[in-house]
Amino acid sequence: MTDAFRKAWEEQHPEGTVIYHDLTANPVPHISAAAHTAGFADPATHTPEQATAFAERVKLIEELEQADAVLIGAPMYNYSIPSTLKAWLDNVILMGRTIGVDAPSAKGTPATVVASRGGSYAPGTPREGYEYVQNYLQAVLGDAAGLELEFIVPELTMAPHNPAMSDLVPLYEASRDKAHADATVKAKELAERLASNAA
Ligand SMILES: Cc1cc2nc3c(=O)[nH]c(=O)nc-3n(C[C@H](O)[C@H](O)[C@H](O)COP(=O)(O)O)c2cc1C
Repeated sequence: MTDAFRKAWEEQHPEGTVIYHDLTANPVPHISAAAHTAGFADPATHTPEQATAFAERVKLIEELEQADAVLIGAPMYNYSIPSTLKAWLDNVILMGRTIGVDAPSAKGTPATVVASRGGSYAPGTPREGYEYVQNYLQAVLGDAAGLELEFIVPELTMAPHNPAMSDLVPLYEASRDKAHADATVKAKELAERLASNAA
């Protein structure tokens, strides 16, 4: 789904820059005490360890701040986001800059989240209350950091693999096809909206 989005986006922006992080192949370091406390201290007082750790955070933060649009793949792992994505968030969420101020630094940036999951947590399903991907990302990236979040939710992706879910394969296929179509349409719409804003 993220590939479909990227392809559609690049067709509109052949000259544009895409910064791609494969957080599984190249994980962002988990936040350290030095990286955390550096965010609350005057940079002039940083220890060498704080300065190095903080510089890594600032690089990721600047990428986010400079992005015209953000695309995040957020598969559900045990009801929540993968730890690799959480590590990225812990780096870029910085009190007084990306959150906790009247105008957070990436406020208003459109962010599309592909939130795939093996089951379904849609309203009215038995596991509705266990959905901690959309709810969590909305809280931290949407409400706290001010990004304009939109979700694409391919669900029941385990249906073709889990015999106990075989009845759900048609629903999985419908969800997959809709998510693919949504990814392409949303990327094009977003590219057009940003182009007309810039004009
Ligand atoms: C460690 C792990 C935990 C998972 N936990 C859940 C879960 O709690 N609920 C769920 O619906 N699917 C769960 N899944 C299934 C994935 O969400 C599903 O396979 C999803 O489609 C993976 O994303 P992708 O298709 O974008 O790679 C889990 C998968 C893994 C690897």
